[in-house]
Amino acid sequence: MTLTDEDRGDAVKVRTTSTPPKAVNPVAYRDALRDAFPDYDYADGAMYFWRFNLFERLVAKHGLPSGASMLNVGCGPFALEALSPTARQCRVTAFDYTPEFGPVFEILRARHLLEDVTFFVGDIREVSFPEASFDIIVFHDVFYEAALSAPDVIARYVPFLKPGGLVYFDIMDRRAKWLWQLLRSERPEYRRYDVASALDRIRAAGLELLDCCPTDENRTGIKRLVQKAIRLTTGTANSFGVMARRKE
Ligand SMILES: C[S@@+](CC[C@H](N)C(=O)[O-])C[C@H]1O[C@@H](n2cnc3c(N)ncnc32)[C@H](O)[C@@H]1O
Repeated sequence: MTLTDEDRGDAVKVRTTSTPPKAVNPVAYRDALRDAFPDYDYADGAMYFWRFNLFERLVAKHGLPSGASMLNVGCGPFALEALSPTARQCRVTAFDYTPEFGPVFEILRARHLLEDVTFFVGDIREVSFPEASFDIIVFHDVFYEAALSAPDVIARYVPFLKPGGLVYFDIMDRRAKWLWQLLRSERPEYRRYDVASALDRIRAAGLELLDCCPTDENRTGIKRLVQKAIRLTTGTANSFGVMARRKE
């Protein structure tokens, strides 16, 4: 599926053009998720804005033009769009293959919890965009999925980035698997990587690697301590967040 600006008119549900407050409002976001999913505990997992600490830090370090265009791939229930100060200053195109997020989008929009966001339902492996459409492409908490190969997916999305545009993604490290299993936190659907060779393939796809950092800072309290223990025990992290740039 290739979306141009013209046919995106049909695919995209709504573009928010009102002028809601830019401030992040995690409590209102959580309440909206609870209303959208009364029988499901999505709200508690999704609302933690510190999940985006590393992303925010790396964007601040490497910079984005004002009013940047962002593609949020596998957006889930719009946590990045609602809770990330960076995303709230971008024109965001978001998609996910889970159709249940369509009604959530409407609820969040009606409550003025989203800024300039468009959403459509689509599969990461099928969706395409015109060349050089975005200043930044984000794959946040997506590549743990067994069905997705991070290097293959990223290589396919590089042409959708403007030259000099950024890509952010995170991947789980294979070396931490045994400890995660010991902690009974490993799931069969998790896909883990030999991080060094995954990064080699990312470079070969035309990206300059800017940063590769453990994701500990996206946690607080006991979970952060566990992540640090993993680093001490395995010499690596459970997962890494990566920022890369499309070569000019
Ligand atoms: C853990 S959630 C993360 C959501 C969001 N990126 C975040 O960090 O808040 C992973 C999301 O990836 C989506 N996803 C997984 N595989 C996908 C695919 N092949 N195409 C589109 N979305 C996919 C799932 O539906 C889910 O919403």
